[in-house]
Amino acid sequence: MIALYFRLRAYFLREYFAVLNRYYPNASFRRADLWHLFRNLCDSPYAIHKRYAQCRGESDPYTFGETPLTTLETIAAFAGWNASDSILDLGCATGRTSLWLRCFIGSCVRGIDNNPEFIRRANHLARIAEIQEGLTFEEGDMLDCDFSWASGVYLYGTALEERYIVDLCDKMAEMRAGTSVVSISYSLEEYCTKFKCVKKRSVRFPWGETDAYFNIKLDLPPDAGK
Ligand SMILES: C[S@@+](CC[C@H](N)C(=O)[O-])C[C@H]1O[C@@H](n2cnc3c(N)ncnc32)[C@H](O)[C@@H]1O
Repeated sequence: MIALYFRLRAYFLREYFAVLNRYYPNASFRRADLWHLFRNLCDSPYAIHKRYAQCRGESDPYTFGETPLTTLETIAAFAGWNASDSILDLGCATGRTSLWLRCFIGSCVRGIDNNPEFIRRANHLARIAEIQEGLTFEEGDMLDCDFSWASGVYLYGTALEERYIVDLCDKMAEMRAGTSVVSISYSLEEYCTKFKCVKKRSVRFPWGETDAYFNIKLDLPPDAGK
């Protein structure tokens, strides 16, 4: 247990130095990320998630995680996202991943999360970064997103129930053919015939290695695969 504690500490420290080196030269991102770190000391995203999950009577209020930014960089390169993309960050939490995608990939980003505290925090993050365009946050259920807007989707939803993932895939089938969805730990092909997983690669999270799947929305008639 103690060894695990020190391994995690070392991991977060290494990650923070990488963030400092690679991303803090960008003043707008640096300002917002330092504010984000300071807020985390007072009220961590884990605590925010736990409060909300307990309020909703969820059976496991402890399962929460964030994508390390160096891992997000690997994922964005793997997906081939660029400034011409419109990316939906499904379950954006504090908005840090959305902010990174806006600052370093240059895509338009919409973050959505059903936890109102996260959305308040994410909007504040965008204000501190002084980003007025191309980065918006919405409070709501992922199932209610306007998927037709996106050319790319990031889904780190390892705690979502299987039934919910099936519904989400059905909803995402509204997207234009060719839209890419990067999903963590499972491919969409396992849940829906309207997506094809064209590649995967191993990525690192604080809890260990897993696979990121690159899924493409297929060009099928609307009622195909029902
Ligand atoms: C594993 S965290 C990922 C956070 C962030 N995307 C990242 O990669 O760092 C999952 C997020 O999904 C949100 N979430 C879970 N179920 C949701 C739903 N049905 N609709 C919208 N957001 C949801 C949670 O509040 C949480 O912030």
